[in-house]
Amino acid sequence: MTVRIAPSILAADFARLADQIALVTAGGADLIHVDVMDGHFVPNITIGVPVVAALRKATALPLDVHLMIDAPDRYLEPFVEAGAAMLTVHAEATKHLHRTVTRIRQLGARAGVALNPATPIDALRDIACELDHVLIMSVNPGFGGQSFITHSLVKIAAAKRLLDDGGGTAAIEVDGGVDTGNAAALVRAGVSILVAGVSIFGDRDPAAATRALRAAAEAR
Ligand code: DX5
Ligand code: ZN
Repeated sequence: MTVRIAPSILAADFARLADQIALVTAGGADLIHVDVMDGHFVPNITIGVPVVAALRKATALPLDVHLMIDAPDRYLEPFVEAGAAMLTVHAEATKHLHRTVTRIRQLGARAGVALNPATPIDALRDIACELDHVLIMSVNPGFGGQSFITHSLVKIAAAKRLLDDGGGTAAIEVDGGVDTGNAAALVRAGVSILVAGVSIFGDRDPAAATRALRAAAEAR
């Protein structure tokens, strides 16, 4: 399975985003993960549509936009227009998940659903076939630099079974506390997109850290 590395700019220097993205691009990053937080769904506020539009001009890499916001339907079109190639909403944040996912795809972006650590994967069962990716949160969303929740490995394996059994082709993405120490186990469990914030941008050399994460993920 090809593993994609998605550095999360939440851990980057926000005053130098283009430079920071250039570093991870040189290190072979596949996607740029963008964390949007509204201070309601999660207790933190980060960035919004204008920053996504600015990033779109600063990189050729696909923008993987993770919406940690309540009632995300209000913002699907603005984020896709701003340049989100992948748009992920939380199952806990919207009442009509099927409608939301369908809308994302109609707008031309790849649609994903994220699950908080305490949300059972059963939430995916009746929508799995509509998804391009599922995002398993391996920390409670809101902040970078938290410790990986070990149970996530069991949950990812269960998500993989659910997708395989249901004929879903969605990629499994993991987000939170990902580093060179757990990357191989995550890939073995079924992950093909690794999001990493602090383990990449917290390193003195984000390009080398990106390469190291890929090497760890591909180690057998
Ligand atoms: C957390 C965000 C993550 C965050 C991960 O709510 O969704 O994308 O940037 O950061 P690390 O890799 O530092 O745990
Ligand atoms: Zn994220």
